[in-house]
Amino acid sequence: MKWQNCGGVGSRCVRRALLFVFVWGLVMIAAVQFRHVENSLRETPTAEESANDLLLDDIYRRREIMKNRGSSSLGLSRYLLQRSSADSSFSNSGGSSLLTTLTTISNNPTKNPSDLEPLLDKRPAKTEEELIEEIEQRIPSLPLAYWNKNSKYPAGQSKTKGNYSCSNLKYPSIYDIEFNNVYWQTMRTGNGTFQLFGAYYDRRKLSRIGPAVRIVGMIDRIEPTVKTHCQFWYDGERDPIIVETLEYKYIWYPKWGNYKQGIYQPYVIACKIPQSHWSKGPPASVSMVEKNCDTPSNNLRVIYNKPERKKDFAVCVKGLDFLHEDLSVRLVEWIELISLLGADKIFFYQLQVHPNVTKILDHYQKLGMVHVTPLTLPGGQPNVPAFQHMYLTKKTNHKRQNELIPYNDCLYKHMYEYEYIALLDVDEVIMPVKDATWQDLMKRVLQKALKIRNETRASYNVRNVYFLDDLLHSHGYFKGMPKYMHMLQHVYRSQNFTKPNQYIKCFHNPERVVTLHNHFPLACLGAGCTSYPIETEDAQLQHYRADCVKSLKKTCVQYRENSVLDTTIWRYKDQLIERVTRTLETLGFFGPS
Ligand SMILES: *[C@@H]1O[C@H](CO)[C@@H](O)[C@H](O)[C@H]1NC(C)=O
Ligand SMILES: *[C@@H]1O[C@H](CO)[C@@H](O)[C@H](O)[C@H]1NC(C)=O
Ligand SMILES: *[C@@H]1O[C@H](CO)[C@@H](O)[C@H](O)[C@H]1NC(C)=O
Ligand SMILES: *[C@@H]1O[C@H](CO)[C@@H](O)[C@H](O)[C@H]1NC(C)=O
Ligand SMILES: *[C@@H]1O[C@H](CO)[C@@H](O)[C@H](O)[C@H]1NC(C)=O
Repeated sequence: MKWQNCGGVGSRCVRRALLFVFVWGLVMIAAVQFRHVENSLRETPTAEESANDLLLDDIYRRREIMKNRGSSSLGLSRYLLQRSSADSSFSNSGGSSLLTTLTTISNNPTKNPSDLEPLLDKRPAKTEEELIEEIEQRIPSLPLAYWNKNSKYPAGQSKTKGNYSCSNLKYPSIYDIEFNNVYWQTMRTGNGTFQLFGAYYDRRKLSRIGPAVRIVGMIDRIEPTVKTHCQFWYDGERDPIIVETLEYKYIWYPKWGNYKQGIYQPYVIACKIPQSHWSKGPPASVSMVEKNCDTPSNNLRVIYNKPERKKDFAVCVKGLDFLHEDLSVRLVEWIELISLLGADKIFFYQLQVHPNVTKILDHYQKLGMVHVTPLTLPGGQPNVPAFQHMYLTKKTNHKRQNELIPYNDCLYKHMYEYEYIALLDVDEVIMPVKDATWQDLMKRVLQKALKIRNETRASYNVRNVYFLDDLLHSHGYFKGMPKYMHMLQHVYRSQNFTKPNQYIKCFHNPERVVTLHNHFPLACLGAGCTSYPIETEDAQLQHYRADCVKSLKKTCVQYRENSVLDTTIWRYKDQLIERVTRTLETLGFFGPS
């Protein structure tokens, strides 16, 4: 509100001021009531100071009490508070929406407030187990179940185990962990701060370092020199096994820029499991510390998803940043097409998306076709919705460096579950030219590759070709296909592909990749990062854009002038139209049914 304007226009201003005082008074009354309730809840004789008696208990208890009391004045003030906070998240004028709520109620004097039936969530309070389950889903890196078990060990003298013996070291309570921007945990050292995102058990056959835990995170140092340690916590053991950190693997080339101390840089950190523990399977969790016996400020669940059999293809999509751009309809077409082509599952990471996109993602997540992992930027980087988008647009090097976190997290989380992992944007499709599916394509490609050299490659790359938006508009829409199906309608592409190895995308072989970059692996196990170039007669990376990437501005003119009709995608036309249209109908995109 602009208070300065108040000097001039008199009566409007007085009215506004009065309104404000009125609203403010009501808020204060509600707040006082609320605090009163809180205080009276605190007085309930329940607070044993046992370390195990976590906040969870407390929340649970409070909800129980709330439920049992439910006096009408409490109900109303809670309702008002909830309404106002919920509304203000949709508009910037929290005050005015509160006002609407209040006037609606006071304009209705004939109704007794005790007859009002607010639309509250009436599901029963959650049990502690249910709460833990929910928290585990929200923060997958937290070793909650194990912590719940482990915290029963009494503090006391340690026996010597492994190379170090620490007298004061105990398992960190989840309340001692230093979180950073929700999904990150922090370790400060004498020379550099670490932001840790996830930890994974790596026992791949080709790994020469033997079983190890790899940690994906960022360090605000280039070429970090600080010595650190990993504390491995095992189920059923009171004390951690402590080892020196083996390596910090940089996921970036210095020549790409941002090569400066003080900027958070992406790393995969490795700690070897000592031989004494090789047979024990994965540790339950891992903490990083500087000095071996430091009490940790972080504790990550060690992820190990190893099914009996691998499925074929996983697709990973970097943090979606489409807050205002309503990509929903195009996303449906893309998800359906990628699934028709053979993706077993699509793993999205999400920064900010439009509510309509959330609808789409929720729908497909329920069907098990996609999985969405929420994501934030670590350190001091912005996470406020629109501001974050502006930051990522302006700071492209930071954007690229941050993208490497979801890509490598996706690789390590799913390396035992899929034969191949592809990193795609939602405007890219790896299109087989002769085969109907990726499975058939890879059969053909493997035969060719093995004939040249009899070994699996770390990746199989596909050449990029642009399907630019305006190549359609000079030709008009195609009949018999819905206009809202962007890819089916855009079947003119530039004649030339971008150069070999430029803007390619790969099917990565997760048995061999150590660090992943958007376009190719940077470090690999075994015989290095070998990549087989899939011939353009077998497959192409169809890239649907309004324009080429900036660095190709000049060539882009030529791409535009030399376009060809390429209707490879129409092979999927019938199924695609049917699936996309049905989904849009189901989700109410054509109005209420
Ligand atoms: C801190 O680490 C950087 C490398 O990341 C190194 O160049 C520098 O010498 C270190 N400073 C000290 C005081 O050890
Ligand atoms: C333990 O110490 C021995 C001797 O100092 C060393 O060879 C070994 O690598 C250490 N093990 C670990 C896991 O750090
Ligand atoms: C290729 O290597 C596999 C084992 O890696 C072997 O079984 C096969 O006979 C080899 N094929 C050729 C043609 O050398
Ligand atoms: C296409 O590529 C060929 C071979 O690289 C080149 O000679 C030609 O100029 C390119 N054409 C266009 C329109 O870019
Ligand atoms: C998509 O968003 C617009 C604007 O918020 C809204 O009017 C429309 O109803 C939404 N569509 C669906 C299917 O929810």
